Amino acid sequence: MDKIRDVAVIVGSLRKDSINRKVATVLSELAPERLKLTIVEIGSLPIYNQDVDDNPPAAWTAFRERLRAADAILFVTPEHNRSVPSALKNSIDVGSRPYGKSAWNGKPGAIVSASPGGIGGFGANHHLRQSLVFLNVPTLAQPEAYLGGADKLFDASGKLINEGTRKFLQEFMRSYDAWVTANIKT
Ligand SMILES: Cc1cc2nc3c(=O)[nH]c(=O)nc-3n(C[C@H](O)[C@H](O)[C@H](O)COP(=O)(O)O)c2cc1C
Repeated sequence: MDKIRDVAVIVGSLRKDSINRKVATVLSELAPERLKLTIVEIGSLPIYNQDVDDNPPAAWTAFRERLRAADAILFVTPEHNRSVPSALKNSIDVGSRPYGKSAWNGKPGAIVSASPGGIGGFGANHHLRQSLVFLNVPTLAQPEAYLGGADKLFDASGKLINEGTRKFLQEFMRSYDAWVTANIKT
């Protein structure tokens, strides 16, 4: 088998029963074998403050090092007020600094957004893309992944019960695998 790719998964929700966390788990099950997905937690990162760049909190340093070690990044996020949840934006900012040393730089990325609402977190998905352009994260364009009505996709045990969505997510991960291979930094 080809070399295993370490994919850092950033989940934009901190909620225990998060739909997006369930989606992330399903994505890791459906991913081609050589993609190893691991959720990198963002809930304990102190809010970014440039004043402490010279003496950063240990949680920032650990997060940046974890991102640097990853081959690729996968974002799975809800939408908050038509944009990116604040915890996710904070993680983007923390990972991007100190200036010139962004841990995101050049890592192949992809975004899945999920919401009970009909437009599947489209606003968050595209606001996130705006930041990723600036951060030089080459981000998979197609297929786009906006999962609407996502509260109906899982049963009480957290199992994905929609076969169409399963097929779509499997295809999505195949495309992402090819994208990672084409864009990975050697
Ligand atoms: C502060 C806040 C803002 C929200 N704004 C939106 C929104 O703009 N669009 C949307 O589709 N859902 C919105 N929602 C509903 C979330 O999509 C819903 O809570 C979803 O389950 C969150 O994802 P999670 O289950 O992964 O935590 C919002 C929820 C919160 C708490």
